[in-house]
Amino acid sequence: MKKYILDLTIVENRRIHELYTLLILTTSDGSILPEMKPGQFVQVAVDGSKTTFLRRPISINNVDRENNHLWLLVRNAGEGTRALMALKPGDLLNVVLPLGNSFSMPKNQSDLVLLAGGGVGVAPMLYWGKRLKEEGYMPKFLIGARSAKDVLQLAEFEKIGEVYVSTEDGSMGEKGLVTTNTVLDTDINKIYCCGPAPMMKAIANVAKAKSIDCEVSLENMMACGLGACLCCVENTVKGNVCVCTEGPVFNINELTW
Ligand SMILES: Cc1cc2nc3c(=O)[nH]c(=O)nc-3n(C[C@H](O)[C@H](O)[C@H](O)COP(=O)(O)OP(=O)(O)OC[C@H]3O[C@@H](n4cnc5c(N)ncnc54)[C@H](O)[C@@H]3O)c2cc1C
Ligand code: FES
Repeated sequence: MKKYILDLTIVENRRIHELYTLLILTTSDGSILPEMKPGQFVQVAVDGSKTTFLRRPISINNVDRENNHLWLLVRNAGEGTRALMALKPGDLLNVVLPLGNSFSMPKNQSDLVLLAGGGVGVAPMLYWGKRLKEEGYMPKFLIGARSAKDVLQLAEFEKIGEVYVSTEDGSMGEKGLVTTNTVLDTDINKIYCCGPAPMMKAIANVAKAKSIDCEVSLENMMACGLGACLCCVENTVKGNVCVCTEGPVFNINELTW
C-alpha cells in the first residue's frame, strides 16, 4: 500500500482517562484521508525534545469516513506520548501512514469472532470491529482492565457488538484476567488480540488449547517503522522478521511462543 507523510490537524483532544487521550485528526488541506486497514498503525513525529527524535508508533483506532477523521488513542507512557497528549485543536501532527499489515478476515462468513484487548491494546480493536460488522460479522469484544474506570471506549464498542469485561478488582464484568472470562467457554472460531505481551501469550495458550484460530498484534519497540533499523525484530517460525513491516499482526502459529 502506498504510504503518505501528512501534516494532520488536531480537531479534538478528548481526555477520556487520567492516562489516556483520544486524538481526533483530519487532513490540513481538506483532502480525503488515505485508505487504512484495521491493524495498521501510524508513526507520529514528536517535536521539541532530544529524547523524542524518533517517531512513535500508534495504532489506528478508528477512521471516521463520514467526518474524514482519524482517531488515535494515546496512553501516557513517557515523554513522547505526553507531548501527544498535550496537543491542542488546530495543532499539526506529522504522521507516516498506513504502516504494517492488517488483521485477516475470518475464513467463513458464519465464523464467531472475539476481539480481545487489554489496556491501550483495545485501540486497534475498535476499527477492526467496525469493519467486521460492515462485512456482516457479529464481533464480540473482550476487554481487560484493572478496574471499571480503566475500561476504555466501552460505549463505542457497545455500538458494534456484545462486550465482555474482565477487571482485576471485579468492579466491572467478571473478576480476574481476560483469560478466565467465561466468554472463552462459548463457541468461538477466531480470536484477535492486542495488549501486553503476557496477556497475548495467555490468550494464545487458551486458543491453542481450544483449537481456536488466533491472531495477535505485537507492540514491539520500534524506531523507523519501515523495516530499516531492525529494532522491532521478532523470532518466528520463518526466522527473525521485522514487526513493523511483516506485522504487527501475526497468526500465533507463526510465532515461537
Ligand atoms: C504497532 C504499535 C502500535 C502501538 N499502538 C499504540 C497506541 O495505539 N496507543 C499508544 O498509546 N501506544 C501505542 N503503542 C506504544 C507506543 O508506541 C509507546 O508507548 C510509545 O512509543 C512510547 O513513547 P514515549 O516517548 O511516550 O515513551 P518512552 O520514553 O519512549 O518510553 C516510556 C516507556 O514506554 C516503553 N515503551 C516504549 N515503546 C514501547 C512499545 N512499543 N511498547 C511498549 N512499551 C513501550 C519504554 O520501554 C519505557 O518503559 C504502540 C506500539 C506499537 C509498536
Ligand atoms: S522499527 Fe525499524 S525495522 Fe522495524
